[in-house]
Amino acid sequence: MKLQINLKRIIDNSYIISIGAKLTGVAKELATRNEFSKYFIITDSNVKPLYGDNFYKALRLSRNKVYLLSVPAGEKSKTRKTKEQLENKLLKLKADRNSLIIALGGGMVGDLVGFVAATLLRGIPFIQIPTSLLSQVDSSIGGKVAVDHPLGKNLIGAFYQPKKVYIDITTLKTLPRREFRNGMAEVIKYAAILDSKLFSYLEKSHSMIINHSSQNILHPSSFIHLIHRCCELKKMIVEKDERETGLRQILNFGHTIGHAVESLSGYKLSHGEAVSIGMAIEANISTALGMLKQSEVERLIQLLRLYELPTEIPSRMNSNKIIELTYHDKKIQKGNVRYTLLEKIGNAVPRISVPKNILQRSLSK
Ligand SMILES: NC(=O)c1ccc[n+]([C@@H]2O[C@H](COP(=O)([O-])OP(=O)(O)OC[C@H]3O[C@@H](n4cnc5c(N)ncnc54)[C@H](O)[C@@H]3O)[C@@H](O)[C@H]2O)c1
Ligand SMILES: [Zn+2]
Repeated sequence: MKLQINLKRIIDNSYIISIGAKLTGVAKELATRNEFSKYFIITDSNVKPLYGDNFYKALRLSRNKVYLLSVPAGEKSKTRKTKEQLENKLLKLKADRNSLIIALGGGMVGDLVGFVAATLLRGIPFIQIPTSLLSQVDSSIGGKVAVDHPLGKNLIGAFYQPKKVYIDITTLKTLPRREFRNGMAEVIKYAAILDSKLFSYLEKSHSMIINHSSQNILHPSSFIHLIHRCCELKKMIVEKDERETGLRQILNFGHTIGHAVESLSGYKLSHGEAVSIGMAIEANISTALGMLKQSEVERLIQLLRLYELPTEIPSRMNSNKIIELTYHDKKIQKGNVRYTLLEKIGNAVPRISVPKNILQRSLSK
């Protein structure tokens, strides 16, 4: 005998990204939401004193049940252990499905807290308030949430969309310069794969953009434009391919080589630095395959350098080891390493197999 369980349904996971929001305004808006009985703000030890404490106070002005939890800053907190600790605290504080979880911080907080929200009581509503450039243009959008495992990054996770994303660009004022550059690598990636106009804008405006952190000057309108465009590009991709079965793979440009280089460096290279090197190499691979003009590779490399990002493999790294490591990437299917490559600035093609000799040649250039 057989029974069919019919579960076909239309799921509406739509949500708003509000760019230019102010944290105090966000607290006021959230306080009016009567559907939430409790608020759990979860942040990290760097962001807590900068924004967490004030955000908590602002929400507490009008709501009683507000809790502020913090985890140590850094990727080392993105683990099952920290997730368990947060779950224990949330359950003790009687979090329920009428609670709202607020992820306040960079991508580490967003990924970890989003995953906590996804599994606690089979799903609690959560919102993202990304405070790093990388999280504002990339990780807070798209619903990928995860923790790391000793065998690799983001190996345990889910797709779980936030109810809303609030981006307060003024938080970038306190972002350390290296973290800013990290985010710029992903911004340059968007431009390289999808938007030649954005690419030219980044070329033209580099001194204004790069100097913001050293001089503590933020040009809000330009940053809103920049972040808005990146969010729009990511939105476009995620809407077409929420679960990364096709188109979303173009976001992996620079990441196949990038992940390998990041891991071989023992994570001394930051993600953005590794992806920058990855983009330079993968652009060279595109040229070696006859897809991309040499002058376009040079343009990309020059832009990365303008933003103080590395474009060469550290000399101590062995190129065969890098190639070997690309086979361990979790996105590899049937042992086939597929690359997203460039046709020209602003145009990428996903899922291209690259012969080993071309890889070796491009890596030792
Ligand atoms: N889910 C996705 O789609 C996706 C996409 C890309 C990256 N990620 C993940 O995102 C993480 C990286 O994100 P990240 O670079 O934001 O890392 P992060 O969250 O570790 O933040 C970087 C550092 O900046 C600090 N910081 C954050 N905001 C600050 C501010 N306004 N002022 C001062 N300091 C601030 C943090 O405390 C931390 O020390 C990785 O775990 C990566 O796997 C996820
Ligand atoms: Zn990335």
